[in-house]
Amino acid sequence: MLIRVEIPIDAPGIDALLRRSFGGEGEARLVHDLREDGLITLGFVATDDEGQVIGYVAFSPVTVEGEELQWVGLAPLAVDEQYRGQGIARQLVYEGLDSLNEFGYAAAVTLGDPAFYSRLGFENAAQHGLHCRWPDTESAFLVHRLADDALHGVRGLVEYSEHFNRL
Ligand SMILES: CC(C)(COP(=O)(O)OP(=O)(O)OC[C@H]1O[C@@H](n2cnc3c(N)ncnc32)[C@H](O)[C@@H]1OP(=O)(O)O)[C@@H](O)C(=O)NCCC(=O)NCCS
Repeated sequence: MLIRVEIPIDAPGIDALLRRSFGGEGEARLVHDLREDGLITLGFVATDDEGQVIGYVAFSPVTVEGEELQWVGLAPLAVDEQYRGQGIARQLVYEGLDSLNEFGYAAAVTLGDPAFYSRLGFENAAQHGLHCRWPDTESAFLVHRLADDALHGVRGLVEYSEHFNRL
């Protein structure tokens, strides 16, 4: 198993993985549309010994109260069913966050299961005065600071690109 940055020839493998993992085409279409519009800030794949894509994470830009603060949204994240429970999602997320940190990004947000993402260092975003546009997401909207002062004086609405509104 190898974890590396996404390259263009990974696109069909990522597409297939997302369709298998989410049981529909929403996330696959999302990644396709983000890629078309140059909105994948960073993507990491996990590949098996034959080079097939078995895991994927993408990060794309978000704004806070309309401002670009070098924040990103993590989505989607998927690992093929037969490879789950081996720490692959953790490695994908950590590699992604490490690189984003090196590139100077300040924070990452995500919407997902708090029990899972809290294990990866995400905190409840509402506690920091941050929310997203979707209703009933107070406990599921999460933030991970990359810069120590990322959350200082930053509050309000975190907006993903419009492609997310079609999920
Ligand atoms: C969620 C998913 C990416 C996890 O992948 P994975 O490679 O099995 O995860 P890891 O093995 O890296 O697990 C990391 C940690 O989270 C825990 N974990 C894994 N799945 C979990 C779940 N569904 N709920 C709570 N904790 C979970 C693991 O026990 C591990 O914690 P530990 O190291 O403290 O034991 C995978 O199940 C998946 O692709 N699901 C379908 C798509 C999906 O729902 N994506 C998430 C969208 S928010």
